[in-house]
Parts: sequence; C-alpha cells; structure tokens
Amino acid sequence: MAFEKICTLADIREGGMRSFLSSQGTELLLVGLPERAVLALHGRCPHQNFSLLHAKQEGRMIVCRAHGWRFDVRTGRGIHPPGCALTRFPTKVDGDTVYVDVESGTR
Ligand code: FES
Repeated sequence: MAFEKICTLADIREGGMRSFLSSQGTELLLVGLPERAVLALHGRCPHQNFSLLHAKQEGRMIVCRAHGWRFDVRTGRGIHPPGCALTRFPTKVDGDTVYVDVESGTR
C-alpha cells in the first residue's frame, strides 16, 4: 500500500463530495462520512470513462453528466443502473490529514 496525502478533513464536509487529483494524476472524489471517516472514489465513470470531477451531487447521489448514471455517494455503488460501481480506494485519517492509497482500488 502506498498512501499519499490528498487533503485535510477541513477540505471535505460531511455528506458532501469534493474532487482532487493524486500526485500521479488519478482523479478522485472524496466524500465526508460520519465520525471523521472519508470515502475515496475514482473520479472516472465506469460507463465510458467520463470524468466525474464535475459530476453533480443530488442528495445522496453522484450523477455523471455524460449520460446520467447514478451512484450512491456513501458507497460508490450504482443506483442507475444497479450492478455498476465506482472504484473505491483505501483511506486513512491521521490527525486532520486524509491519505488515500490510489494503487489499491477495488469495486
Ligand atoms: S460516461 Fe458516465 S454515464 Fe456515460
């Protein structure tokens, strides 16, 4: 695992998402979860690889601007269509710093 610093907790509000680039240019969506937890998702849509860095957040959904696929902002799992999912990356929070391992993504 190769965790790298991406941001601080102050950069992400609970229930909200924000886009970042890793040092190697991997597009990330970071979502603030309860109790200082952070979810890191790949910022590329699994449909046609469209960037999600400017995706809309509608309540608990991330909506791809290309063709409207929708994902649960708390998990990255597909809502429409079901069965798809955004890649998730391991995260850790040390103090107020958020680290993401962009080499170990899973769906
Ligand atoms: S590329 Fe995202 S819905 Fe088609």
